[in-house]
Amino acid sequence: MHETWPEDKTKLVKRVFNSVSDRYDLMNDLMSFSVHRLWKKFTVAISGVREGDYVLDIASGTGDLIPQWLKRVGSTGHVLMSDINETMLHRGRDRLIDLGLTQVQIMQADAQSLPFPDNTFHHLSTAFGLRNMTDQPAALQSMHRVLKQGGQLLVLEFSKPVLKIVQLLYDQYAKLLPKLGQWVAQDSASYQYLIDSIRKHPDQETLKRMILEAGFNRCRYYNLSAGIVALHQAWKF
Ligand SMILES: C[S@@+](CC[C@H](N)C(=O)[O-])C[C@H]1O[C@@H](n2cnc3c(N)ncnc32)[C@H](O)[C@@H]1O
Repeated sequence: MHETWPEDKTKLVKRVFNSVSDRYDLMNDLMSFSVHRLWKKFTVAISGVREGDYVLDIASGTGDLIPQWLKRVGSTGHVLMSDINETMLHRGRDRLIDLGLTQVQIMQADAQSLPFPDNTFHHLSTAFGLRNMTDQPAALQSMHRVLKQGGQLLVLEFSKPVLKIVQLLYDQYAKLLPKLGQWVAQDSASYQYLIDSIRKHPDQETLKRMILEAGFNRCRYYNLSAGIVALHQAWKF
């Protein structure tokens, strides 16, 4: 399933994340009132990731999930942070170094054609990444290929509010985001992209179907904050 965009989406997404990388973390906290941290904590909490596991985080951006994955896998596991965008990865690498976390592998990689052998990772995570990918079915298939048998996929992404009142309030709130982007990051267009991309992203059931069509099994999802965000969890058997 492809949404339509007025220009080449890959170029647009590259420009957006090159532009916002400096203020990305600040804007995330401001826009979500820091609730994105709770959504990410929940993702890690239900993951069952254990000491010794090999985790690939896709579209890591500035690497929010990485410290929590490193803690989980311990000294015998591995965490690989990846993103298509070099600027975001640099920012993430600097943040991790500041935190004294140097045991993470970092790789620039396109999720639509992951450069890893089949059956490599125990777990794949992607937080607010899938929505930004041009060919989401290709990305999900690529993820399925690199996951080990019995491995787990976690997709955290904006979704469709399940309560009408929340949808109404959310629509009003969304109109403010380009203004906030202009004020904090001198960039309203990138935050307009954010709103457009959320609107075009598949709802919970559609994404579940896409995940199953890519070959995953037992897909389920958790609605977070009344479905503003959903966490999809699936396995490869
Ligand atoms: C909204 S950020 C999410 C960053 C981080 N995971 C988080 O939760 O804050 C989306 C990221 O997706 C990355 N991205 C977009 N298309 C991609 C692709 N095809 N492959 C890998 N990463 C991609 C962007 O470069 C950007 O860093």
